[in-house]
Amino acid sequence: MKPTIVLKDGRLIDLAGDRIADVVVDPNSGLITGVGTGLAADEEIDCDGLVISPGFVDLHAHLREPGLEAAETILTGSRAAVRGGFTAVVAMPNTTPTTDSAAVVEQVLAAGRHALCEVSPSAAISVGRKGHQLSPMAELVGAGVRIFTDDGNGVQDDRFMRRALEYARGLPDDDRPIVLAQHCEVEALTEGGVMHEGQWSARLGLGGQPSEAEELMVMRDITLARMTGARVHFQHLSSAGSVAMVRAAKAAGMPVTAEATPHHFSLTDACCAGFDPIFKVHPPLRTEYDVAAVREGLADGTIDAIATDHAPHTPESKERSFDDAPPGMLGLETAFAVALDELDLPLADLLALLTWRPAAIAALTDRHGLALAAGREANLTILDLDHRWVATGEEMASLARNTPFEGRELTGRAKDTFWKGERVLADFEVTR
Ligand code: DOR
Repeated sequence: MKPTIVLKDGRLIDLAGDRIADVVVDPNSGLITGVGTGLAADEEIDCDGLVISPGFVDLHAHLREPGLEAAETILTGSRAAVRGGFTAVVAMPNTTPTTDSAAVVEQVLAAGRHALCEVSPSAAISVGRKGHQLSPMAELVGAGVRIFTDDGNGVQDDRFMRRALEYARGLPDDDRPIVLAQHCEVEALTEGGVMHEGQWSARLGLGGQPSEAEELMVMRDITLARMTGARVHFQHLSSAGSVAMVRAAKAAGMPVTAEATPHHFSLTDACCAGFDPIFKVHPPLRTEYDVAAVREGLADGTIDAIATDHAPHTPESKERSFDDAPPGMLGLETAFAVALDELDLPLADLLALLTWRPAAIAALTDRHGLALAAGREANLTILDLDHRWVATGEEMASLARNTPFEGRELTGRAKDTFWKGERVLADFEVTR
């Protein structure tokens, strides 16, 4: 029998409120066995002055397995996740081969059994993410998938997207809702573009990707969600116009949700001034006006979740020229601190964006994100809000190094993370 652990005198913040309490974790059953005051167990972690939160849920992580294990594996990605306070990550399907069959889903799930957190595979909407032939969605739902996305590319064809939504709407879901998640980008408008189209792209002589490329697809998918009644989730919103449209759609009662990344609420296209491909990402970093709008969307509930779009790339590939380097940046290990530093939100609201709200979208609320209570799976993180640290790619658990926050002084970090009762992060270090 492994020793039980009491997390003593922590500030618990979850859906049930904000209070000082003890939490008892039993690594044998994997469950929380008590929440209250004056509780005891075999071992004790002093949480005085620390926050205990449900483990974070990331709706959007590229774990690169199968296919690009030089950049990340499910194991290394899960280490990065728990260092960031995450106990569940939704793995994106732009793997090689594409996650568009039950066999690849099984492969991701099998690798996930050795991970340090839950790895929930999403699957492609279309075979090979090519936008022509529907993936075997019913079979994929049977394998446990609830989020479908061609992430990396948006579904370009209007009729195909309509059919995908209609098909998804008709699938049985065992009360775990199915959602189509869209990377909104009209490729006819972004072709040749490597950064946001605006003042900076003109000055630097780099090809631009206009905000309208995102906004047109947001507009189309809101319209198709209305037409079909199916749920649509908007990934990594980056433009003020997109936020405004999602806000209006929600006000009209439409079944849409949205996420935003830390880089889109903290960095602008001015970062590209030095031609450093670390700042190349899709959708691109946009203007201060857009950053402000994304923050406003997070504050007023238009945007449901902070998602990382953790996109590891090998150092060699990110050392190419801005034009040639692949887009994407690391996110799992810095998300919480960047959110804490950059967003002027009550802590409970900030944690909601990382816990129960994404858990609901990913249909993981049976084990993640909700109130910490006896009988629930012990998936939680202990946060030290005052911990000061400097982000460096070299020091990260991720195999890749492409953090846009290199050298940045941050405050706030996950100190311990428990997944299924196992202490997978102990005093800022992963345990396996
Ligand atoms: O910047 C990005 N990188 N955006 C995406 O949509 C895909 C991702 C990746 O897979 O590297």
